[in-house]
Amino acid sequence: MRARVFPDYEAMSVAVAYVVAGKLEEEPSLVLMLPTGITPLWMYRRLVEMHRSEGLSFANATFFNLDEYLGLAPDHRASYHVYMKDHFYGLINPDPARIFVPNGAAPDPEAECERYEAAIREAGGIDVCVLGIGRNGHIGFNEPGAPFDSRTRVVKLSESTRKVNASDFETERAPERAITAGMATIFDSKSVLLLASGTNKAGAVAAAVEDDVSENMPASMLRSHPNAVLFLDEPAASDLGHGVAG
Ligand code: F6R
Repeated sequence: MRARVFPDYEAMSVAVAYVVAGKLEEEPSLVLMLPTGITPLWMYRRLVEMHRSEGLSFANATFFNLDEYLGLAPDHRASYHVYMKDHFYGLINPDPARIFVPNGAAPDPEAECERYEAAIREAGGIDVCVLGIGRNGHIGFNEPGAPFDSRTRVVKLSESTRKVNASDFETERAPERAITAGMATIFDSKSVLLLASGTNKAGAVAAAVEDDVSENMPASMLRSHPNAVLFLDEPAASDLGHGVAG
């Protein structure tokens, strides 16, 4: 796993947007897996600008999202469906038939997870998986302890994640459960780009890069991935030892 460190959030976001755009230009039918949250917002913003001003086209790409809260209908304002429409899918030129976000309101969530894995297989697997990282090291909603061989499934969110994500809701906690792409689903991606910004991610980044590879630190799994790159701003890299980043 390589780490690239940028002076600030904007530089990191622009760099990752260029990597995604470059891969899309090489392979217009790219299959992407994408995160929500605060970290990828400026990457999306830059990709939208490239679409508008430079003609970057997403028409032949396929999009999968990493996760969705269980129990939220796709039109719930805190759902990841709405987030993606507002920040990305609604601002570019995707083929709606090739946008996949887990349906948190599916009557049979287990069947929804199987359907999701099947759709990924039918698309030929994920080419580029973009990830954020939780303060506890989660990727997608794979919380500490998630088995490395897990696939898309219903998971319980940790108390800390529910607290951190509560600001999207009018309650004190985000929902209890979510559907997430599994650890193995993520690992099978040809290329993984993990984004982290800010000092509140520095501990998780350092643990993922420098401590033992362990299911208790989900992001550490990426150390054995053949093509995983960390995109960090300086604050997120601030706990790394010498010689790791550069
Ligand atoms: C969201 C997701 C999560 C976030 C992580 C960081 O789809 O999969 O793993 O990437 O919680 O969130 P932010 O960027 O808000 O700090």
